[in-house]
Order: sequence, then structure tokens, then C-alpha cells
Amino acid sequence: MGNYYPNNEKIMSNINNKFQFVICGTDTDIGKTLISSFFVRGLNAFYWKPIQSGIENSTDSQTLEKLARINKAKIINEAYVFTKPLSPHWAAEIDQKTIDFNFLHLPKVNAPLIVETAGGLMVPLTRNFLQIDQIKKWGLPVILVCKSSLGTLNHTLLSIEALQKRNINILGLVVNGEKHLDNPKTLVEFSRIPVIAEFPYLPKVDSNNLDILWKELNIKNKLVSILNTKAI
Ligand SMILES: Nc1ncnc2c1ncn2[C@@H]1O[C@H](COP(=O)(O)OP(=O)(O)OP(=O)(O)O)[C@@H](O)[C@H]1O
Ligand SMILES: [Mg+2]
Repeated sequence: MGNYYPNNEKIMSNINNKFQFVICGTDTDIGKTLISSFFVRGLNAFYWKPIQSGIENSTDSQTLEKLARINKAKIINEAYVFTKPLSPHWAAEIDQKTIDFNFLHLPKVNAPLIVETAGGLMVPLTRNFLQIDQIKKWGLPVILVCKSSLGTLNHTLLSIEALQKRNINILGLVVNGEKHLDNPKTLVEFSRIPVIAEFPYLPKVDSNNLDILWKELNIKNKLVSILNTKAI
């Protein structure tokens, strides 16, 4: 007789593996670390910022640790930390380093995982390889963070086109900042990509407010329903 009863452990592990996403953005400083903290905290996920450019203020891993307030063990060490806050290809050259792609393989965790990219999609990692090429190699679905305000239609639709051209699976958009009456709707109309969240401007950025928003915006259910629709 075959085993007709699903193995719960296996099902849980499959679900956890579905919550593995790359958080990318239409630009640098667009809110990727804040939104990563939001997802890491909400999903109790691992976090990895493979390439960090700039160490003068805090690194993204340090910011995330404070904001998501998760166990440090869940923050995977960067593969590269460059001194200057520049595009990775140039920051690496200044530090006399070269990115070896063998160090950019995804960490093998059987759990939710959030990977935060460097800068925007077309940022070079080396003189002949872009951030978006690495996203393609990873093969994880992406969440695209974009701003809510003027300029987002152009930047976001261009970013979506670049991702789709490479057959990169876009899970959805996080529209970040002051609520805009028309932009989220227009982005969906042109792209058919769902908006996972309209993430408001937060006068106080802290984990408590992230928790409130996680519930208010019903993020986990939205993720599950998008994943089910797309059958990722
Ligand atoms: N919705 C928001 N409300 C309040 N502050 C925000 C919001 N979104 C982003 N910020 C602030 O804007 C700044 C830039 O955001 P963040 O560091 O998340 O950008 P990033 O895309 O990760 O940048 P980088 O390209 O350097 O990784 C941070 O100080 C962050 O707290
Ligand atoms: Mg960041």
C-alpha cells in the first residue's frame, strides 16, 4: 500500500521554501533594507545582503538587525563588503578586490529567506556582469520596491520590462512612501504585476510599526494567494 498521508514536515518545509525572495529596487535608497526588515520580521526569515558597498554609516545587515530585531544567527554574512558607497564594480576595484561568483551562491536554508540586492537592477557587479544577471542566476522570485511618487511610473515599468525580458519571476511590487492616488493603479494596469503592499511613509521607523503594518496590510495572506495563483 502506498502512503496516502502527506508528510507534514515535508509540507511545512515546502511552504517555508516558497517564502524565499529577492528584494530588489528601482534605484538605490528606495527602501530595500526597510522592506527587507519588514519581510524578515513578518516571516521570521533569514536575511542575506551578499554585496555591501559602503561601511561609513551602518551596513544594511546592521540596520536590519536593529529594525527586524531577529536573532543574529539569522543574518547571513555578506560575501563582500566594500569600503566605499559606490556601484559594486567600482567599489571592488577601489578596494582591489574582484567579485568571485562562487561566493554568490544562495545560502542553503530550509526556511524563509530574504536576499537584498545592491542598488538598482542594472548596477554592475563587475565590468561585464550586472546585478540583474545575478538575480537571474539565483532563480528566486523577486519583490520589486519602488517609490510611490512622481517618477515611479517610468522607473518601475522599465525595471519590470528588464526583469521580464530575462524571464525573472516578479512576485509583486511594494510601493513605498506617501500614499499616491493613481500610481499603484497605473502600475498594475500597465504591468499586470500585483501590488503586495502600499507601504506608507513612517514618521518613526521601528519594529513595532513594522508589526502593526504587517497585520494591517495582511501581507502573509497576500503572499500565499499570489504564490497560489502563480503556482510558483
Ligand atoms: N516608508 C518609509 N518611511 C520612512 N522612512 C523610509 C521609508 N522608506 C525608506 N525610508 C528611509 O529611507 C532611507 C533609505 O532606505 P533603505 O536604506 O531601506 O534603502 P535601500 O534601497 O536599502 O538603499 P541601498 O541601495 O543603500 O541598499 C532609510 O533611512 C530608510 O529608513
Ligand atoms: Mg539597503
